[in-house]
Amino acid sequence: MQKKFNPKVFQLGYVALGSPDVARTRDHYLRIMGMTEVARGDDGSVYLSIGYNHHDLVLRPAGESALLHLGFHLKPHIAPADFARDVRELGLAATVKTDSQPGVAEIVEVAAPGGVVLQFYGAMDAPAPGFKQTGAAPLRLGHAAVISPDGDKLVAFFQDFLGFVRTDDIGGIANFLTCNRDHHVVNIVGAPESRVHHIAYELKDTAHHAGAADALRAAWVNLLWGPSRHTAGHNIAAYYRDPNKVLIELYTEMDQFIPELGMCEPRPWHEHVPMKPRSWGFSELNAWGADFAFNLAGG
Ligand SMILES: [Fe+2]
Repeated sequence: MQKKFNPKVFQLGYVALGSPDVARTRDHYLRIMGMTEVARGDDGSVYLSIGYNHHDLVLRPAGESALLHLGFHLKPHIAPADFARDVRELGLAATVKTDSQPGVAEIVEVAAPGGVVLQFYGAMDAPAPGFKQTGAAPLRLGHAAVISPDGDKLVAFFQDFLGFVRTDDIGGIANFLTCNRDHHVVNIVGAPESRVHHIAYELKDTAHHAGAADALRAAWVNLLWGPSRHTAGHNIAAYYRDPNKVLIELYTEMDQFIPELGMCEPRPWHEHVPMKPRSWGFSELNAWGADFAFNLAGG
């Protein structure tokens, strides 16, 4: 019998990155991504908002580019103290912190398997600085993909403890998990490394991919892949690297998963009907069959 879908969290709220050049990286996210600076921490961290929440992205000065933590929004009925107790019963470290960052009064910080730091919060201020009209100007932070040397344990933490459901995998290595209707909110890649693979922001609509690419190119930032449609998730995605060399995905049209039916909402471009969780091959990342290594000049 299918397990009831009742995750403890309902969205990825923010990502914090360590940056060796906060000023340059901040400039990228303000001018090209179209975010707004909402606050600055005593440690030199800058807190950036896409348009509504206090922050979607935190940049903290660091010796090298690194994923510091991911922040997940707890369901309203879950008290942080109770959540922390349940985490500790799993044998993981959980610390309740108050006023540790602007805009969030209370968090539970968890040292998850593989050393990835996850923060959980019940409420965040919403100063609503407004959405920018220029740059990529995404709608929201959508998902994060992390590479973990303890991939299986991290997947188990998300599935068995947080209540995420696995929607797909690629090669049995990249595991797509969701806590809402989006095909994935996290993507956990099991490999002997500990780092972020990419961070993904949802654009307004598919036509906006061109405007976003133009905004990037105007700042001498080249796309690395796409825009093209993926198989797992079927999102139309484009990738580039931010000034910290962190891989950034801009996407639209992500599959919407219906946990009650164990399938994605039907779409004309699905290769499988019904579109149920499956294992994809690494050779089928691109639903349109395009090979971005193709030498167009050579014909
Ligand atoms: Fe992605």
